[in-house]
Amino acid sequence: MPVYALGLLFLTACQATPHSLKSATPDYATALKLSLLFYEAQRSGHLPETTRIPWRRDSALSDKGLHGEDLSGGYYDASDFVKFSFTMAFTTTILAWGMLSFKDVYNETGQYEYGLDAIKWATDYFVKCHVAPFEFYGQVGDFSLDHTFWGRPEEMNMTRPAYKIDVDHPGSELAGEASAALSAASLLFRERNKTYSEELLKHAVELYEFATTYRGLYHDAIPGARVYYESTGYGDELTWAAVWLYKATRNVRYVEQAENFYTKFRIKDRPNEFFYNKKVAGIQLLLAEQTQRPEYKAATKSFCDYSIKEQLRTPHGLIFIDKSGTLSHAANVAFICLQAAIGLNISQSTYINFAKEQIDYILGSKGRSYLVGYGLNYPKQPHHSASSCPDLPEPCGWKQFTWKGPNPQILYGALVSGPDQNDHYEDIRDEFLYNEVTLDYNAGFQSTVAGLIYCDKVMKRE
Ligand SMILES: *[C@@H]1O[C@H](CO)[C@@H](O)[C@H](O)[C@H]1NC(C)=O
Ligand SMILES: *[C@@H]1O[C@H](CO)[C@@H](O)[C@H](O)[C@H]1NC(C)=O
Ligand SMILES: *[C@@H]1O[C@H](CO)[C@@H](O)[C@H](O)[C@H]1NC(C)=O
Ligand SMILES: *[C@@H]1O[C@H](CO)[C@@H](O)[C@H](O)[C@H]1NC(C)=O
Repeated sequence: MPVYALGLLFLTACQATPHSLKSATPDYATALKLSLLFYEAQRSGHLPETTRIPWRRDSALSDKGLHGEDLSGGYYDASDFVKFSFTMAFTTTILAWGMLSFKDVYNETGQYEYGLDAIKWATDYFVKCHVAPFEFYGQVGDFSLDHTFWGRPEEMNMTRPAYKIDVDHPGSELAGEASAALSAASLLFRERNKTYSEELLKHAVELYEFATTYRGLYHDAIPGARVYYESTGYGDELTWAAVWLYKATRNVRYVEQAENFYTKFRIKDRPNEFFYNKKVAGIQLLLAEQTQRPEYKAATKSFCDYSIKEQLRTPHGLIFIDKSGTLSHAANVAFICLQAAIGLNISQSTYINFAKEQIDYILGSKGRSYLVGYGLNYPKQPHHSASSCPDLPEPCGWKQFTWKGPNPQILYGALVSGPDQNDHYEDIRDEFLYNEVTLDYNAGFQSTVAGLIYCDKVMKRE
């Protein structure tokens, strides 16, 4: 796996960009820093003294498994307080991928330690969730019970049941994605702490065996997840987990299995998106990187060319894949194409400009920013209960949900769902189609921003 050391590899990567710059470069370093603050605000469990979010304290300390296992920690999924391992794991994989690729950027912007902490907050939790080789907790908290509450996580008192997958109730997407996250994190921690890195890899290997040996859809094992996070099948997660394990171990057995899955599950077809439940574009890119085979490179090129030239766009140029998570969809595609440009030298200037165009839209090139706390006219009412609460000791409840003013706590760095197909957007708290925030929305965005900083730095040194 190439780590893109500044100024060493692919010096041509970003050269073509300046000629076609349409607007001033936004402050990507600030955006990167803010995105990590958003993850900090989503932390569950016992918070360290060093927490940078003044309005957050310890919460959900008594989250437990069915046999009393400690499941405190991890991240809240969105506005609600369910801890949802599937999207948490995808988030972790994508953040770790960005950090592996653009390590020097994280370091030079002073974000490397924060980045490692963000990953470790998730991986420590996944280790707790993995209570036995073939048992993994996929959810703590019940969506329906949780959604009857609006307020601070520190004050919630609803029952928080825990749900797991095991040999009788398998969930291959969940085990596969958790394995991928742990493989990626294991690579990231290899230099920092060999013991921790090896511990993560051991869990990654076991979860991969679980995912491949006991096949099943996770939403059959954890039916409460179906309404919000329905699975689209596990073929992509099995393949994704196998490539990540290959990257982490260099054991050819895993790349052979990945290529077998790729054929068996027909992963070669051009996808329309790259999302937490549709990883095909990421698989094609990773296989291209790992094997250098033209077939995978061509698949990545086909996905990016299609996304850039043919995908639906809003009048102002944002690619439009779905109304739910509009901006995150765009940022995820930008991430794939930026990696393809920098790492694989495919259509460099076109793909870099595309990534920049999509991220700049998010950061305000068309008149408003969609990143909370950043830039011009940013969202003041993200759909997020904790930040909608006033300072203590004021009470917080449903009154805050409908209150027509800005969230009293600024949820720095949260990327909102975004505008509709006509660039229309409403900054209203209860309009979750516009203003929802989630762990996975920020992940591809953050990793793309790191890549754009890399491009800017390489350019400046030319
Ligand atoms: C990248 O691709 C371009 C166009 O195909 C080529 O001219 C250039 O030499 C390549 N650069 C590297 C570093 O491979
Ligand atoms: C960060 O950069 C500094 C200065 O170049 C270097 O000494 C240090 O080793 C880097 N840290 C990491 C974790 O790469
Ligand atoms: C739970 O919290 C609500 C409001 O925060 C309170 O009215 C209720 O009495 C609490 N219930 C329990 C069982 O503590
Ligand atoms: C390295 O990781 C191990 C296992 O998690 C932990 O016990 C140890 O304290 C870590 N070492 C350092 C220096 O952080």
